[in-house]
Amino acid sequence: MRDDDTPLAVHAEWLEGYSYKQRLSEQGTVVSVGDGIAWITGLPSARMDEILQLEDGTTALAFHLARNRIGAILLRQTERLTAGTTAFLTGKRLSMVVGDGLLGRVIDPLGAPLDDGGPLESGVSRLLDVRSPPIIARDFVKQPMYTGNKIVDALIPIGKGQRQLIIGDNGTGKSALAVDAVINQRGKHVYCVYVLIGQKRSAVVNTIETLRRAGALDYTTLVVAEATAMPGLKYLAPFAGCTVADAWTWQGRDTLIVYDDLTNHARSYRELSLLLRRPPGREAYPGDIFYLHARLLERSTRLSAKHGGGSITALPIIETEQGEISSYIPTNLISITDGQIYLDHDLFARGFLPAIDVTRSVSRIGGNAQHPNIKKEAGRMKLDYLQFLELEVFTRFGSRLEASMEARIHRGQLLREMLKQDLLAPLSIEFQMAWMVAYNEGLFDHIELHLVKERLAYLQRQVEHARVSIEEGRDQWKTLVHAWMSEAI
Ligand SMILES: Nc1ncnc2c1ncn2[C@@H]1O[C@H](COP(=O)(O)OP(=O)(O)OP(=O)(O)O)[C@@H](O)[C@H]1O
Ligand SMILES: [Mg+2]
Repeated sequence: MRDDDTPLAVHAEWLEGYSYKQRLSEQGTVVSVGDGIAWITGLPSARMDEILQLEDGTTALAFHLARNRIGAILLRQTERLTAGTTAFLTGKRLSMVVGDGLLGRVIDPLGAPLDDGGPLESGVSRLLDVRSPPIIARDFVKQPMYTGNKIVDALIPIGKGQRQLIIGDNGTGKSALAVDAVINQRGKHVYCVYVLIGQKRSAVVNTIETLRRAGALDYTTLVVAEATAMPGLKYLAPFAGCTVADAWTWQGRDTLIVYDDLTNHARSYRELSLLLRRPPGREAYPGDIFYLHARLLERSTRLSAKHGGGSITALPIIETEQGEISSYIPTNLISITDGQIYLDHDLFARGFLPAIDVTRSVSRIGGNAQHPNIKKEAGRMKLDYLQFLELEVFTRFGSRLEASMEARIHRGQLLREMLKQDLLAPLSIEFQMAWMVAYNEGLFDHIELHLVKERLAYLQRQVEHARVSIEEGRDQWKTLVHAWMSEAI
């Protein structure tokens, strides 16, 4: 007699219940590979965006479903990948681990660490490509998102949950503005994600170092697909960054995400699309490039209180050529976003830094989010400044001007001088209130232009010393600013 007959009994039960049927599993074959894509036959039930596992260890993403074959973008490629390699379906879609473990880390778009901080803590996993929050779950943009930049916070204000485009030629300070905005979130309980797409290694290292030195890494995650990365990774990078921010937002946090830059992203997408023989449209971009960016930026929003009240504020960056904002990708992005900050090459060359062209910048919804005190001070400033810029053109002819006109031009020049700001020096909103009050009260009118910077620095020290709140009434501010400015003289 057997001393243990249970296993046999279980076996028998299983055998009894077993039914003979055909079990199918698909096995595909790579027919060609190169430039970051592969064509695969023999996987008729592959789904769009499904992860494919290749025999040699390569991971790919089903990206284009044609009649007898599929086009896949390669995400991780081994040296051994050749035509003839076998491919399998996984039934899975791309996801990555999200959560606080990502703070201070540099990751690639698949969520793998690129820094030397060791493996990531395991945590909740989230799909890369999800639907944007439904309208019903959203709220109005009504809280300010301070960038620490004088021109932006006063004249082109941004609110939490807004999508504000930063646009300009190369080397005009686009990244600098975004980095400053991230640095300014220190101590403000806003988590940041900085997505670097298609940048040179030196630029990537610079950005990381700048953020580290400013102490911004404590609350920031970097998602990096550098210039030499596979086009597939560059294409995924903004979605990965958005997924990281998304997770925090649904926990009720405010987040800020920078996409630096979407020009490179659009190019990678175009490259993939052309390689996969999708029909090219305008400027050879595929027809769905607008949809791609709209889908990405629609995920930035402010959630209603019922859903935790979190927000994603997005600062996508776009590079123009020769200031041409009416080309395809810039116009797309301008129409998708809630406003743009235009950086001008000429202003940059003339030393008006940051080189923000106020005449071509706008914030369509941020005004509602501006603090009422700031809003009151900034009220007529933009209009006056725009009129000054027009008036200034006349002075070039050397014609004699009326005294009132000259006074206005002087105030304009003064304002322009006051709006200059150094790199990596985001300013507190209290100081911004103080300089605007001082300007509006005419306290700078008799100060020579070359002394403005010094006087502003003095005022800033006073404000920081006094620890006064933005909530104080205008009269209180007026008294304080008058006192500070008279001490300076
Ligand atoms: N407010 C500023 N004051 C002084 N220098 C500045 C200021 N803003 C930007 N710069 C300088 O201008 C240069 C270009 O800036 P940045 O790299 O941010 O431009 P970009 O538009 O992002 O360029 P790219 O197109 O190469 O990405 C940098 O050397 C930066 O130090
Ligand atoms: Mg840049």
